[in-house]
Amino acid sequence: MNYIELLKKRRSVYKLSNDIPYKDEEIEKIIAEVLVESPTGYNMQSSKIIVLMNEEHRKLWDIVKDVLRAIVKPEHFQPTEDKIEMFKQAKGTILFYEDESIVEKYMNNIPLYKDNFPIFASHGMGILQGNMWNMFASLNLGAHLQHYNPIIDERVRKEWNVPLNYHLTAQMVFGKIESIDEPKEKIPASERMKTFK
Ligand SMILES: Cc1cc2nc3c(=O)[nH]c(=O)nc-3n(C[C@H](O)[C@H](O)[C@H](O)COP(=O)(O)O)c2cc1C
Repeated sequence: MNYIELLKKRRSVYKLSNDIPYKDEEIEKIIAEVLVESPTGYNMQSSKIIVLMNEEHRKLWDIVKDVLRAIVKPEHFQPTEDKIEMFKQAKGTILFYEDESIVEKYMNNIPLYKDNFPIFASHGMGILQGNMWNMFASLNLGAHLQHYNPIIDERVRKEWNVPLNYHLTAQMVFGKIESIDEPKEKIPASERMKTFK
């Protein structure tokens, strides 16, 4: 598959199941490789991840459901519950964290660029998430990106013993593709790009 085909293949795929043709260890290994090979500003490598599969993945989405139940009005909760139940059917979730102690170290050590380090960290996080998403597409698996932080942070921290210096930035759910939504509308490149040559 060429690179553009892969980019086109990556979609937000919400309808997923856990019946994937890979062993847990194979998935774990390739996720680790994407983590290590993704570039970061100043080579900070401040992004950290926690991978939840199977029962641990389902535990996460039960936590999200619990937290939302306390916030969403009971009469509006059914669609929320249905959505979370759909997420629970997937194989796993990657929790993406920024290790703030590393970013702070760079801010203190190189005061001239102090303001840039959180921005570099955030760009590196975006690259990591993008690479992870594309990797799943390359394996013919689906994934979608969620942001239930910060409302779930404390419950998740307690459940998986997450260090205090880890800041949750996103949750990527992955699994076997059951169905894909209609393609999203794209603005033509000519409206977003200029070339001078
Ligand atoms: C930085 C970023 C944040 C996103 N956050 C969410 C989110 O919280 N929930 C969600 O359902 N989709 C989220 N998405 C998915 C986008 O809505 C989706 O990628 C976009 O509409 C294009 O659709 P596609 O992924 O199918 O190509 C996010 C995507 C990106 C890149």
